[in-house]
Amino acid sequence: MRAIAVHRGEELPRVIDVPTPEPEPGEVLVETLRVGVDGTDHEVIKGTHGGFPPGDDYQILGHEAIGVVVDPTTTGFDVGDLVMPTVRRPPNGTNEYFERGEPDMAPDGQYVERGIVDAHGYMSEYFTSPAEFLVEIPESLAPHGFLVEPMSNAEKALEHAYATRSAFTWEPESALVLGNGPLGLLTLARLARDVDDLYCLGRRDRPDPSIDIIEKLGATYVDSRETPVPEIPAEHGHVDIAVEATGYAKHAFEVLDALAPNGVGALLGVPGDWSFEIEGGRLHREMVLQNKALVGSVNSHIPHFEDAIETVSSLPDWFVDDIVTEVVPAEDPSAAFERNTDQIKTAVEFVSPSER
Ligand code: NAP
Ligand code: BGC
Ligand code: ZN
Repeated sequence: MRAIAVHRGEELPRVIDVPTPEPEPGEVLVETLRVGVDGTDHEVIKGTHGGFPPGDDYQILGHEAIGVVVDPTTTGFDVGDLVMPTVRRPPNGTNEYFERGEPDMAPDGQYVERGIVDAHGYMSEYFTSPAEFLVEIPESLAPHGFLVEPMSNAEKALEHAYATRSAFTWEPESALVLGNGPLGLLTLARLARDVDDLYCLGRRDRPDPSIDIIEKLGATYVDSRETPVPEIPAEHGHVDIAVEATGYAKHAFEVLDALAPNGVGALLGVPGDWSFEIEGGRLHREMVLQNKALVGSVNSHIPHFEDAIETVSSLPDWFVDDIVTEVVPAEDPSAAFERNTDQIKTAVEFVSPSER
């Protein structure tokens, strides 16, 4: 079958031929419709995040897949069900994190991530998965259901951010998203449901499709080249909640100054090593005396996918049309991996959702 993989020493993914996987009892064989591409895929291609499956000199990409069950084996799924796989799997049998249903909280070494960390991904005509790691997706999401996995990352980050504020009365009125890539824009759309006073940070000149989306969502675009993060204004002062999705490490600390007292910042970006100075004493004091919180968040699991299905189902049509800038055929997927300011979310198509 056709698969799209990155090879050791190569800079661009290419189409390869690999055997079609055979499902074991308890596993499901899924025919892939579409697979989304995000910043993490670019990090995997560059070799700055994740790793190849042990013993292999290539890695099949893709962790945002939607597909159709073609062989449910002994599971409760039916042929034709629309499904999306979660990303993490246990490396050796199982472990306490997976048994508790919290693989997203597993430390390094206690998980692999399909298409990212030490395991092949879903960017192939077929893939198999144990049934417990598949989420059923409503038919209406067949064309853009690949947005559910990245939205589930935002759902988890917001769940953890809100949890840090659950000990007191906290009603966020303003929010800032750092980053206008696909994760930042999905997070902004999710926050627009609950918060009126919204800001989103980028570093682009107009005209730019991501700035158009920010403004159509009713948010204010902030250019980091003109406005330092600590100075980002909100109608009533600084912001109650901030989500970092740039991968720009200084933002993890600068965001503390953008937060209002009792505010919370959630960090999602995955930067490389970078040493720089921060005003550690002042920021430490600020966090303590202003009751501020910072929380890191990675990955997501079934409950976050379920929340994300609801959120993605409620996104306005214009948002989906504007954020999904290109869907390219799996025979020639190179355009899905091009980085330019016209592209936001791209996806690779194996089977057209309308032809299944
Ligand atoms: P992306 O496409 O690389 O988006 C990052 C965006 O941030 C880009 O639009 C970039 O602008 C902008 N940016 C970077 N530095 C900036 C700066 N100094 N000022 C203003 N804007 C800046 O990636 P993504 O898919 O949206 O993901 C965002 C980050 O989250 C990545 O680091 C990714 O690895 C990580 N991630 C984490 C999780 C998790 O579970 N924790 C999940 C998914 C992704 P330009 O395009 O103009 O350069
Ligand atoms: C994926 C997550 C993964 C994270 C870190 C993200 O792009 O969507 O599932 O845990 O990268 O590898
Ligand atoms: Zn991702």
